[in-house]
Amino acid sequence: MPSSPTPSHPSHHPSPLPSPLTAPAPAPLTRPAVVTALRAAGCVFAEDEAELLLAAARTAGELAAMVERRTLGLPLEHVVGWAEFCGRRIAVDPGVFVPRRRTEFLVGRAVGLGLRATGRTGRPPVVVDLCCGSGAVGAALAAALGPVELHAADIEPAAVRCARRNVLAAGGEVHEGDLFDALPAGLRGRIDILVANVPYVPTEEVGLLPPEARDHEPLVALDGGADGLDVLRRVTATAPRWLAPGGHLLVETSERQAPQAVETFTRNGLLPRVADSDELCATVVMGTRAGTAPQPPQAPRMGTASPSP
Ligand SMILES: C[S@@+](CC[C@H](N)C(=O)[O-])C[C@H]1O[C@@H](n2cnc3c(N)ncnc32)[C@H](O)[C@@H]1O
Repeated sequence: MPSSPTPSHPSHHPSPLPSPLTAPAPAPLTRPAVVTALRAAGCVFAEDEAELLLAAARTAGELAAMVERRTLGLPLEHVVGWAEFCGRRIAVDPGVFVPRRRTEFLVGRAVGLGLRATGRTGRPPVVVDLCCGSGAVGAALAAALGPVELHAADIEPAAVRCARRNVLAAGGEVHEGDLFDALPAGLRGRIDILVANVPYVPTEEVGLLPPEARDHEPLVALDGGADGLDVLRRVTATAPRWLAPGGHLLVETSERQAPQAVETFTRNGLLPRVADSDELCATVVMGTRAGTAPQPPQAPRMGTASPSP
């Protein structure tokens, strides 16, 4: 029994047991305390992360829980529930791959090709984000390209649920299943821009990834098989049947993997090209299906005879 009675709790009355309802709320963590905790846990950008956590938490309890999860090693994006990608906030749920800054380079290349496709065909492009994870790539493409017919797909139910939050808001649809099996059959031969940020870490190197990835992102999002190119090879083998004539497949690889990826593209009849960004440490391999997309109907010119029926 505590022996420090207060005037309102005389010593001859038993003190009430603390309960979650009556226990005083924990003292709010101060900004310096958050920074100190993050720094002690090895967070390099402790000040910046503290700002994000302080802004994200709605209560002192929530802040304490967030700081604890972060100091235990969860990715910051899983703690706050979103990642910044191409200048947008993308919802990222626990257990879902966190979109990387370097993938913004893939988006940039896809936007360039998408705009040209629209210029050629005069209609909104058909865009597919295969292996979509959170759907960050598809959502960013829809934002940059304007009207698009957008589909995204992933094999992981958690990714599909998360992508629905991001892709439906961008006017697209999300499908669940193994690569092209997930897509509606009506897309066959119609895709103008097919982006596939497939898993491409060689199996033996998965263990060398930072713990944030290794321990908190699903293996299916990282492991690309012995040389890292297993999923890429499967995508490339089937893509030509789903691309529109003149349509493009874009994948991200490591710089070291690019020559092999190019060979795979060529073997499957895609005209390959490689682009690198030193700034983002990114490599993108692009392949174009031969053929020309149907041209937009020409408006009849003044003074020319209309074609006879
Ligand atoms: C590297 S992550 C990329 C996620 C997202 N595109 C991004 O850039 O943030 C790879 C994604 O591929 C998915 N994936 C792996 N194998 C797949 C398969 N056979 N079919 C569909 N999705 C697959 C994983 O679930 C994971 O979400």
